[in-house]
Amino acid sequence: MSCSIQENATNTQANSFAYWVDKNTIVWLCLILVSVFLAIEVSLWGCLFWIVALVLDDILVYGFGKSVLFDSQLRVCRNYQWMHNMYDNTTGSGRDLGFNLVVEDDLSQQAKYEHMVKELKLEKGMMICDIGCGYGDWLKYCRDEVGCEVVGVNMSPEQAHYAEHEYGLHVFVLNWKDILFDTELQKKLYGKFDAITFMDTVEHYVSMEDRRNNTKQAKIYSDMCLMASKLINKKSKSRRVFMSCLHQTRKHRPWRFYYHSYFMDKFYSGYYPFLDEGPLKECEPWFNVVKVDDKTEDYRLTGVRDSKHFQAVKVNITPKKIAYFCMVLLLDPHTIHRLLYYFQDSWMYFYGDNAYDETYDVEYRKKVSFVLLFWVTFELKEGVN
Ligand SMILES: C[S@@+](CC[C@H](N)C(=O)[O-])C[C@H]1O[C@@H](n2cnc3c(N)ncnc32)[C@H](O)[C@@H]1O
Repeated sequence: MSCSIQENATNTQANSFAYWVDKNTIVWLCLILVSVFLAIEVSLWGCLFWIVALVLDDILVYGFGKSVLFDSQLRVCRNYQWMHNMYDNTTGSGRDLGFNLVVEDDLSQQAKYEHMVKELKLEKGMMICDIGCGYGDWLKYCRDEVGCEVVGVNMSPEQAHYAEHEYGLHVFVLNWKDILFDTELQKKLYGKFDAITFMDTVEHYVSMEDRRNNTKQAKIYSDMCLMASKLINKKSKSRRVFMSCLHQTRKHRPWRFYYHSYFMDKFYSGYYPFLDEGPLKECEPWFNVVKVDDKTEDYRLTGVRDSKHFQAVKVNITPKKIAYFCMVLLLDPHTIHRLLYYFQDSWMYFYGDNAYDETYDVEYRKKVSFVLLFWVTFELKEGVN
């Protein structure tokens, strides 16, 4: 499977069968084949079989919190594969998959990284681990500008491949949840790092079908914090974790909220925690919260102003992209949902009214947005093993 553990990204690229065919692909192809068979052998109505199966799966997901047909973590991988193959310039070279700070009316990635360096109390020679490291821009900055030693963890093989081949970074291609069960990885990673970062990645950790399962959510966030605490070198001067994460608000939700959430689920799969139920609460046994900053307007305005950011990216059609699109119709059950997501601009809906407004207005956004982006600095408590 494209999300399985690899020490490096070389074997997970386009030439590998596993990169293209995962469990979701096989189930999807079976649904298509059965539909064709039913249409030929039974009735023309049989060609609708795949739609009925998808609807039944949705009923199980949203009604009972169980996805029988598809694996949501694989959907996250396919989402990043799609973005990598379809988008223009949503790769490294100064373009990360998060967002930048608005400074004097401009967007600045440098300001974001400087802020993180300060919050993490980073110094030359320190070791950083970035979980969900994207294309590796932040790690490259830490290495080249601060003089840190850096390691990434990412379950997206194409991003890890980019980070390794363009930036010369070392990236473990895996789902961080696997570290908790792998003693070899633990030997390599535990106790080695001064600071850990989770930048705009935590939103994927709880799968969409678990959105009503508070026990499972709490376990995932506490596992994440337990792992972070184990990765940290207890003698370090930093002992800090920096997290950037979208959170849900408790604002009243009209039916359109659920409608757009549905398309988001199909594209990315994930869950935005509430501030008082997510990592801030579950990390408490290991970490003190040093600081919480609302950066929603920086996130929103990056998408509004930067036409190459993934919130707003335009896709230039090329023969290669057409070929990929045709393939992905067979590889992935959710390509049509994805198109509808773009068509209706589902992402921007979550920022509430005037989502494209150019003004930076934190108080207004707090009132209207269904999501808020928080930057959180944690510090490991004394005495934690
Ligand atoms: C929105 S991108 C952010 C990337 C990067 N941190 C940045 O700020 O540019 C989310 C990243 O998290 C990674 N990711 C999501 N779930 C993961 C998991 N369970 N284990 C490892 N990586 C994960 C994705 O592959 C992707 O690189």
